[in-house]
Amino acid sequence: MCNVLVTKKLPGNWIDYLKRECNVTLWEDIYPPPKEWILNNIEDKDGILITLTEKIDKEIIDRAKNLKVISTYSVGYDHIDIKYAKSRGIIVTYTPEVLTDATADLVFGLILAVARRICEGDSLIRKGEWKTPWYPTFMLGTEVHGKTLGIIGMGRIGKALVKRAKGFDMRIIYNSRRKHEEVDAEYVDLDYLLENSDYVVITVDLNESTYHLINEDRLKKMKRSAFLINASRGQVVDEKALIKALQEGWIKGAGLDVFEIEPLPKDSPLLKLNNVVLTPHLGSATVETREKMAEIAVKNLLLVLKGEKPIYEVQ
Ligand code: GLV
Ligand code: GLV
Repeated sequence: MCNVLVTKKLPGNWIDYLKRECNVTLWEDIYPPPKEWILNNIEDKDGILITLTEKIDKEIIDRAKNLKVISTYSVGYDHIDIKYAKSRGIIVTYTPEVLTDATADLVFGLILAVARRICEGDSLIRKGEWKTPWYPTFMLGTEVHGKTLGIIGMGRIGKALVKRAKGFDMRIIYNSRRKHEEVDAEYVDLDYLLENSDYVVITVDLNESTYHLINEDRLKKMKRSAFLINASRGQVVDEKALIKALQEGWIKGAGLDVFEIEPLPKDSPLLKLNNVVLTPHLGSATVETREKMAEIAVKNLLLVLKGEKPIYEVQ
């Protein structure tokens, strides 16, 4: 039997499924295991199943003498030293596609919530501050339908956003490494996108070329009436610059599901701003999607251990 390390409990029965085929060493807590635990347990393992909170670096990979597969329960893989894993012949697998629609839904949730002030309204009622009957200029927000959506990155999630935006009669522009002929949206350069979008949505993955892609200069190019939405990785945005932009009114607001440090520190200035909607990294967080991710992550791992092609391999 193969030996595998699993760093989180997963929804559904997928760990039991894995246990029928492998000896499983499982970290049971919802807090991530300390690096020491991984180092101490990985030496004889054939596979490891992780989530995005476990950083897999050279030191861990060097310790893993038998490792054939790193299966991450996520679409992002910026927490893994992919190059080094590959150089050691280790296959890295991930869980794209099954979470695309859930994430695109959440992005639209953030757009609607921040533009129409849904969270602000909810908290106003709860605080007992809804004191006036209906009147014409109370809590006015910004329209979503008919506006321009600017999508940075045109992968699976970008395409799922295009579908949704069509239903809102939005003009859709996008910037990505290359033009996608099959996508019914206008390819534009990044400056044009920033200068012309009412909603700028980040869907790129985090890597050396996208770290702090949205910096002070680029925030200044956005319209003062525009919103920034990020459900990819916090580090794609220079959060300090974004806070300044929100405080000083360079942009109108933001919907954020991801942050440079997670959980968001209690003293973050973001918590004091009314023009942001914050969610705790919930992009793929539905019962249906998280179970599908478990299935894919477990099957990816087992397929590699059986010498077969995984469903999704990081290229
Ligand atoms: C979530 O952020 C993921 O990468 O799956
Ligand atoms: C709003 O509730 C309206 O009736 O216009």
